[in-house]
Amino acid sequence: MSDLTVSSPVASAVPPLPVAPPPGCPFGLPAGLDALRAEAPLSRVSLDDGSEAWLVTSHAEARAVLGDHRRFSSVPATPGFPTSGMVGGSTTDTNIVSLGFIRMDPPEHTRLRRMLTGEFMVRRVEALRPRIEELAEGLCDAMERAGRPVDLVSAMALPLPSSVIGLLLGIPEEDHPRFRDITARMNSRECSPAELAGVLNELAAYLDELVTAKEHDPGEDLLSRLVVEQVRSGELSRHELLAIAAVLLIGGFETTANMIGLSALTLMRDPETAERLRQDPALIRGAVEELLRLHSIIRNGPRRAVTEDVEIGGRRLRAGEGVIIAIPAVNRDPREFGNPDVLDIGRPNAARHVAFGFGVHQCVGQTLARVELQIAVATLLRRFPTMRPAVPLEQLPFRVDMTIYGLHALPVTW
Ligand code: HEM
Repeated sequence: MSDLTVSSPVASAVPPLPVAPPPGCPFGLPAGLDALRAEAPLSRVSLDDGSEAWLVTSHAEARAVLGDHRRFSSVPATPGFPTSGMVGGSTTDTNIVSLGFIRMDPPEHTRLRRMLTGEFMVRRVEALRPRIEELAEGLCDAMERAGRPVDLVSAMALPLPSSVIGLLLGIPEEDHPRFRDITARMNSRECSPAELAGVLNELAAYLDELVTAKEHDPGEDLLSRLVVEQVRSGELSRHELLAIAAVLLIGGFETTANMIGLSALTLMRDPETAERLRQDPALIRGAVEELLRLHSIIRNGPRRAVTEDVEIGGRRLRAGEGVIIAIPAVNRDPREFGNPDVLDIGRPNAARHVAFGFGVHQCVGQTLARVELQIAVATLLRRFPTMRPAVPLEQLPFRVDMTIYGLHALPVTW
């Protein structure tokens, strides 16, 4: 047996999966990740249900895993898939969320994803830019009217991506309050697993109604196009369409919202960088890549199951074992990013981050997320040059307990 082989250590010696930043250091890497990476690019960790998985903390190894969909499956029903602590991760789930193509392997995954790639092409997303800018300006107007202090999360970070996804999916204006209510409850810290299941059912019922309306009277939106071009031709089942709508809504909303909140706070705490961006808006694109790298908001995945024995980073992984990619650790791997804990908006290789994943599942909405972030950051910097947190950093409610890191609220003044 090769000395590269790692025998399963005794359960008590296996550290738990690190997810929360060190106390008092909200922008820090989840405590323990640096130490794990310094030891090896892959380590064994224990999960809440007592199971174990491999945790990947280095850049090259993360790309090796995410780039190999043949030996690393995204399907939760695959033996060894680490479902512990994952929303919609149960292998018995039949709700529309668990059936999304994010949890499929090729060729099923390819068939469904291909129907969406055109919708998220750079050209199409760039065409939305003026409308997104208008939405951001409108939200800033509302903040000015409301007066100081304002919670930036509920005033800008949440409504901007929620309106954009509404626009994309063709959610009629009059349904926005209902749709916002569902998404707000889904995002609430107080939402228990049972309540979440109820909210997801409500969402499924709402999307069903929406799709029925598109079937009768298609418009110019993504869902209508899928109904007309794919469902009617039999390429896409109605159930698959609902799953796509749910995954876009869930995947595309909370993620971007949290990145907006964290980015705004980071720049409020770094006035010099904020001033450079105000002076030269061409720097915004690079700044957004660097903010995505530094914050790496996905704290609990992506996850895969090994389907065939394979050696990665000097470790032998066996079929039936689970793998979790620690995106925050990977994006601060010093072998890839020099001085990785520092925000450097001119970092030449910032865009090599894996904040959007890598390989066949790499985020389908990344261009849209980038445009939304660029607009949110640029508009806030221009409209509120003196904006600052209205409470000390220690009082800010960071989402230390959530799969997607960020802020529950961000009171600001100016
Ligand atoms: C800052 C914002 C975002 C971040 C950090 C993010 C992150 C990610 C990551 C890490 C994955 C890969 C999951 C895996 O490999 O298993 C992913 C996939 C995905 N994301 Fe995003 N995302 C963001 C915004 C969006 C937006 C705006 C949309 C849509 C409107 C979206 C829709 C999706 C979908 C549908 C997938 C599944 C792709 C596939 O399986 O082929 N995301 N995202």
